[in-house]
Amino acid sequence: MKQPVSGFSKKTKAEKIDWLASNYLQDNPSAIDILKKYWNEDAQLQQLHDDFIENTLSNYYLPFGIAPNFLINQKLYALPMVTEESSVVAAASNAAKFWLERGGFEAEVISTEKNGQIHFNFFGNEKDIEAFFEVVKPKLRNSIQSIEKNMKARGGGLLELSLVDKSHILEGYFHIHATFETLDAMGANFINSCLEQMATVFEEEAKSFEKFQKEKMYPEVVMSILSNYVPECLVRAQVSCRVDELTLKHHDGKQFAEKFVRAIEIAKTETRRAVTHNKGIMNGVDAVVLATGNDFRAVEAGVHAYAARNSYYGSLTHAKIEDGIFTFWIELPLAVGTVGGLTSLHPLTKLAFEILQKPDAKELMKILAVAGLAQNFAAIRSLVTTGIQKGHMKMHLMNILNQLHATKEEKKIAMEFFIANPVSHSAVVDFLEKLRS
Ligand code: MEV
Repeated sequence: MKQPVSGFSKKTKAEKIDWLASNYLQDNPSAIDILKKYWNEDAQLQQLHDDFIENTLSNYYLPFGIAPNFLINQKLYALPMVTEESSVVAAASNAAKFWLERGGFEAEVISTEKNGQIHFNFFGNEKDIEAFFEVVKPKLRNSIQSIEKNMKARGGGLLELSLVDKSHILEGYFHIHATFETLDAMGANFINSCLEQMATVFEEEAKSFEKFQKEKMYPEVVMSILSNYVPECLVRAQVSCRVDELTLKHHDGKQFAEKFVRAIEIAKTETRRAVTHNKGIMNGVDAVVLATGNDFRAVEAGVHAYAARNSYYGSLTHAKIEDGIFTFWIELPLAVGTVGGLTSLHPLTKLAFEILQKPDAKELMKILAVAGLAQNFAAIRSLVTTGIQKGHMKMHLMNILNQLHATKEEKKIAMEFFIANPVSHSAVVDFLEKLRS
């Protein structure tokens, strides 16, 4: 019978591993070896990683790859990508090369506003809370002066405060909606600090508001937190070319463009398709978000909510053919940072920013939108022409060979054989069996 453990976080790393080994790993020495094998030889670097979270035992590697040839607003980028999915970097590189030869990607930031809410209960007269809000609003603003100081000096800070009455949906529920400009910071800590400070002042000031005193009804803060839904922090990226420029040896440009647009229409109509379609987009976005040390869960949550903003979940990309011109574009809400958080801590993240030529947050937004658009282009192109598995399984071949412990020589022969033959797990097993006998 397993026993709960107390004071676990206070144990040393070695004690934590011993505890884990004896309680969950049958003291298997090879399990402990795996954890240790992934430690960095550089003790200082390992300590940095240990300190990112609580109870670190080891490091978990993901490949850090590069997709070159991204021409974005006439500037050439190589995108650092962190992902475990075999075909993602290859697909991004292919799409980048394809559009490099057709004028590249255009991208623009539409808006950069972030937001957060102070959620509170109020069961009194709504006119009273409205009157109180008008009185307290300047005090809330004043209360965050010291938190805001640096951000304001750089041109950012709190933008607007408004009172939102949601009591018709949930009895007694109101919130203060606060909007922010956080410049090159993702802004989560800044926003949350501002909100919590204002929430304290809000409750404090309410105690001496006459109408509340008379009715003995006071607002009560439930919670204060930023929103990861950022439809006012929006970026757009697009590609376009003449339809005949899409002609390749295995497909006619016009037919391809029409099928491509149809695929997008399907993803706009059918949620089951839209989710997979958007997942493909996020293969590209997340890989660069991760490489740059940004919060991919925040980005994911916000992007999918945006995909459902019209009361149904649909495609994040759009495509059209007009006057013989094929245009394909994406609009994404992205709250990301190029300063703060992990961005200046993790050596690989710092390197990713150097590779990207030290973009500011707006430039990073554009790069991310392009990564998503390129990934979606590659996926739809495969889907409406060869099918997805051909390219995907080719990229997965090395994983299968590794699973089957193929030697270097066997891998070489297999790679050659599978250029012209379809890859499947069983085909690779058969091939290796024959080769080995
Ligand atoms: C696989 O990770 C992503 C795709 O399924 C995306 C799509 O279907 O559009 C290929």
